Amino acid sequence: MIALITGASSGMGRDMAKYLASKGWDLIVVARRKNLLIDLKKQLNVNVKVIELDLIKEENVYKLYNMVKKDKVDLLINNAGFGLFGKFWETSLERELEMINLNIKTVHILTKLFLQDFIQRDEGFILNVCSSAGFLAGPNLSTYYATKNYTTKLTMAIHEELKHKKSHVTVAAFCPGPVNTEFTKVAKGNFTVGQLESSKASKYAIDQLFRKKLIIVPSIKMKLGLFLSRFVPWSLLLKMTYQIQYRKCK
Ligand SMILES: NC(=O)c1ccc[n+]([C@@H]2O[C@H](COP(=O)([O-])OP(=O)(O)OC[C@H]3O[C@@H](n4cnc5c(N)ncnc54)[C@H](OP(=O)(O)O)[C@@H]3O)[C@@H](O)[C@H]2O)c1
Repeated sequence: MIALITGASSGMGRDMAKYLASKGWDLIVVARRKNLLIDLKKQLNVNVKVIELDLIKEENVYKLYNMVKKDKVDLLINNAGFGLFGKFWETSLERELEMINLNIKTVHILTKLFLQDFIQRDEGFILNVCSSAGFLAGPNLSTYYATKNYTTKLTMAIHEELKHKKSHVTVAAFCPGPVNTEFTKVAKGNFTVGQLESSKASKYAIDQLFRKKLIIVPSIKMKLGLFLSRFVPWSLLLKMTYQIQYRKCK
């Protein structure tokens, strides 16, 4: 069995790679920092193909698909992604467009191309690493929340289409709250609380994917928060999210 993981050089991508390797999966790992991917490969006792690519660039996304086409991937994990803290009128437009490319476009393209193959084989798994942000609007981290809304809702819709088709292909949206990775540093945040351990969240995601769970939320607190948020007025939710993210970026 072969898993393709984007963004496997750090954080949850790396931890999902380690967990899958412990279960005997061969891996194709993708990111820009090749040295970290090679370090990861050295730690694992399975076949690991290292691919250094910048997935912000659309042509590289197609290149990746063509590079692995013959490998018969069984599991695609769309994990590479990043955020950017700040007021919408102050944050870099260029950086946000890159974010939209990576968090939305790349996920959209790879999901479609692999899903078409998986449907033909009537087997395969796609795990889209979304976020609990995918169910909310996120002042002070607005573009990031919007990108995660896109991938969460896309994944949910595809899941329903597959159900109606009685397909054996599985798609799932992994929707964690804060996890201890390089995310905050990359997003230019300066403060985090209540983070989950990346290895625990990653293991949970993989286990739940194989149990064919659609929405995977790796903490009781976040599960409860998301459930209760359905009963809270939008205006209050926005105020709460503003405060939570404001403390991280001031
Ligand atoms: N940490 C959280 O609190 C949290 C919560 C919910 C969801 N998430 C989501 O979880 C996913 C993984 O993030 P993480 O928290 O594990 O953060 P992370 O440690 O910063 O990992 C991000 C990964 O994405 C890769 N990446 C970034 N830009 C890339 C590019 N242009 N091309 C290819 N790969 C790229 C990075 O590799 P290189 O830099 O080597 O390219 C790295 O391996 C993201 O989609 C994030 O939105 C995170």
